[in-house]
Amino acid sequence: MIILGIESSCDDTSAALVENGHDILSNVISSQNEFHCKFGGVVPEIASRKHLETIIPVVDSSLENAGIKLKDIDGIAVTQGPGLTGALLIGLSFAKAAAYAQNKPIVGVNHLEAHLYANFLEGKHPPLPHVGLLVSGGHTGLYFVKGYTDILLLGQTMDDAAGEAFDKVAKLLRLGYPGGIAIETIAKQGDENSVELPRALMKKNNMNFSFSGLKTAVLRYCQKNHPDFELSLNLDDNSMVRDYNTLPGWIPDLAASFQKAVIDVLIKKTMIAKKITGSNAVVIAGGVSANQRLRHAMAAACDENNIEFFAPSPVLCTDNAAMVAGIGYHLLKKGETAPLDLDAVSRFPSPAYYFD
Ligand code: KG4
Ligand code: ZN
Repeated sequence: MIILGIESSCDDTSAALVENGHDILSNVISSQNEFHCKFGGVVPEIASRKHLETIIPVVDSSLENAGIKLKDIDGIAVTQGPGLTGALLIGLSFAKAAAYAQNKPIVGVNHLEAHLYANFLEGKHPPLPHVGLLVSGGHTGLYFVKGYTDILLLGQTMDDAAGEAFDKVAKLLRLGYPGGIAIETIAKQGDENSVELPRALMKKNNMNFSFSGLKTAVLRYCQKNHPDFELSLNLDDNSMVRDYNTLPGWIPDLAASFQKAVIDVLIKKTMIAKKITGSNAVVIAGGVSANQRLRHAMAAACDENNIEFFAPSPVLCTDNAAMVAGIGYHLLKKGETAPLDLDAVSRFPSPAYYFD
C-alpha cells in the first residue's frame, strides 16, 4: 500500500510517499524559515499563505521523486492537528480535494503521534510499549506508547515547549531563527558548566516540565552581567541576526549552559518515566530531538540504565510528511477513513497515564 502523506501544521509544507508504513519513496519538505526568521518565530498568517503557495509544487515533486502518479496511490493521510488552524486547513483542503478527485480513502492524523511514529520509519523498530519523549517547537511531553495510536500522557510542559525555549533564547540573544540549531551551533564553542541556570520541577516522580523560568534566568543573567549587550526584548523587534564571528566569548558559554539545562531536565524526567512505567526502551522525537548533544546524552543515560534507545534521523525529527504517511498506513489498513468534512483540530488532548 502506497500512502501519500501531507503535513502543514506549522511552518513546513511537506508531502511524502511511503509504502507499507516504512519504506520512504519520497519525502519533500519546503521550509518557510526565511519568511519567519526576521520575526524570531512563526507568524501564523504568513505560514498559511506560504502553505497555499507551495502545497501543489511540493506534492508534485514528491510524486515525481517517487515516480508515481496520484491515481496509483492507495490512500491519503493528512495532519489534522494539533497545530495552527489556518496552516492545517491548507493541507486538509488539498488532501480532501485530491481524495475526492481520485476517489481514494483519506485519514486524519494526530501530529504528535506522527512524530513519535518517526522511529518506525527506518532501521530497527522500537519495541512496544516504550517511553516516548516528544520535544518540538509546539509540544514537550512524555508518553507511554502502547501502540502507534495508543498513547498515554505521562507529563508535559506547564508553559513553554523545549523548542520554544530554544527559539526564545536565540531571539533574545539575536542568534537567528529557528533557535535550536543556532544555539546548538554556537554552544559547541562554549563551556556548558560556566553559567548556573535553574532546572524546574525536579522533585521526585514529577514528569512535567517548565522552561519559562529558564528563559527568564537567561535574560536576568545578561542584564546583570552584560548590561551593555543589546538584547532583543520586543516581540516586534526585527533587528539583524548577530555575526557569529564577532560574538563576545560569554555568549557561547551561556548558549551551552542553557542547552545543558534543558537537556539535563529532559533526561532526568525520561528516566523517571522509564522507572514508573517499567519500560525498557526510550524513543525521542520532534524537532529538538535533532539536537546532537541531546541525542548523545540521552543515549549515554539509556546505556547506563540498560535501556534501548531510539532516535529518528534528523530529517525525520523536524516536521515531515513521511511520519504522517507512515502512521496513516496503519490507520487506513485498519479501515479507519475520514469523511470529506474532516476538519482541523488545533488541540488534541492525549489520555493520561494513571500511576500511584
Ligand atoms: O517538530 P518541529 O519541526 O515543529 C513542531 O512541531 O514544533 O520542531 C521545531 C522546533 C523548533 O523550536 C526548533 O528550534 C527546534 O525544533 N529544533 C532544535 C534543533 N533543530 C530544531 N532544537 C534544538 N536543537 C536542534 N538541533
Ligand atoms: Zn512537529
